[in-house]
Amino acid sequence: MSTKNWTVEHIPSQQGKTILITGANSGLGLEASKVLSSKGAHVIMTARNLKSGNEAISLIKKKNADAKLDLMHLDLSDFASIHKFSDEFHQKYGQLDVLINNAGVMFPAKRELTKQKFEVQFGTNHLGHFLLTGLLLDVLRSTPNSRIAIQSSGQHKAKMGKPDIYFDDLNFDKEYNKYIAYSQSKLANLLFAYELDRQLKASHIDITVASAHPGYTKTNLVRHTGFFVQAVITNLLAQKVEIGTLPILRAATDPNVKGGDYFGPTKMNEMRGYPELVKSSDKSYDRELAGKLWKVSERLTQVIYNFK
Ligand SMILES: NC(=O)c1ccc[n+]([C@@H]2O[C@H](COP(=O)([O-])OP(=O)(O)OC[C@H]3O[C@@H](n4cnc5c(N)ncnc54)[C@H](OP(=O)(O)O)[C@@H]3O)[C@@H](O)[C@H]2O)c1
Repeated sequence: MSTKNWTVEHIPSQQGKTILITGANSGLGLEASKVLSSKGAHVIMTARNLKSGNEAISLIKKKNADAKLDLMHLDLSDFASIHKFSDEFHQKYGQLDVLINNAGVMFPAKRELTKQKFEVQFGTNHLGHFLLTGLLLDVLRSTPNSRIAIQSSGQHKAKMGKPDIYFDDLNFDKEYNKYIAYSQSKLANLLFAYELDRQLKASHIDITVASAHPGYTKTNLVRHTGFFVQAVITNLLAQKVEIGTLPILRAATDPNVKGGDYFGPTKMNEMRGYPELVKSSDKSYDRELAGKLWKVSERLTQVIYNFK
């Protein structure tokens, strides 16, 4: 085993663990489901499209017939779906060792809205996961040594995304720019991760929150970009999904992870490579900004986190 590069070889047995992954039918979520089930975890794969989710399960089972996989419907762009999912999850399962908030949408050409009329990237990537995590917090709390792993992106600090939380126009009603909206959602993922970690620590609750980004990885995420980006740039620059999934796997399983850690590749301007501990933007560590986003997110999702 190499001591330098962190690979799947470093993942300890996940036997006895229940791991929930959002957006598990495709890309990084599918790869993470494959790896974690191969390590013995019981993986609950969620998808908004059950046909695609079942295809993903068949793909994994072809290579690992014994994989312990369940599929559940979850559409993060609809609060009703998230509540329904949470109710069903509570009925079916008594433990949750790891929650992996991975699903995401990027750069839709036209401004799209979630069911509750939030801009789709902010609504799905941030608000959907904020609500989901709040609803599952009780199960995470009752599972010893549990963990939350949050998928962000290098775009949380990309210049063209002018990363900020646009409190005056969170849904880009006035002017839509798909890059700015995506960056806002991915910065929100990190502000949420760090604030959740601080609040859990302050309340002495034993849940570790770590986050990650995959660099530039070849998945279906670029579906809304044009031919040039998909066929040329992605093929030239993007790394394989097996490598791009390692940062979130590390955040989810490395026994040495501490709350607030953030993992990502460090080669080629953080686009490629094996996962290492990295720093996110100064803005992502801004406590005041995180506190303000937290309050707004609680108001918009109507979920109250219980830290008592
Ligand atoms: N690939 C990269 O280079 C890269 C870079 C930085 C960050 N990321 C982040 O990595 C995460 C995974 O993306 P990926 O690269 O694996 O792309 P992907 O192959 O497109 O997977 C995205 C997943 O999110 C799901 N999803 C989207 N909207 C959803 C909704 N409303 N409800 C539930 N699930 C929804 C997708 O479901 P459908 O298949 O039904 O659409 C899919 O399963 C995202 O958070 C993304 O922002 C990726």
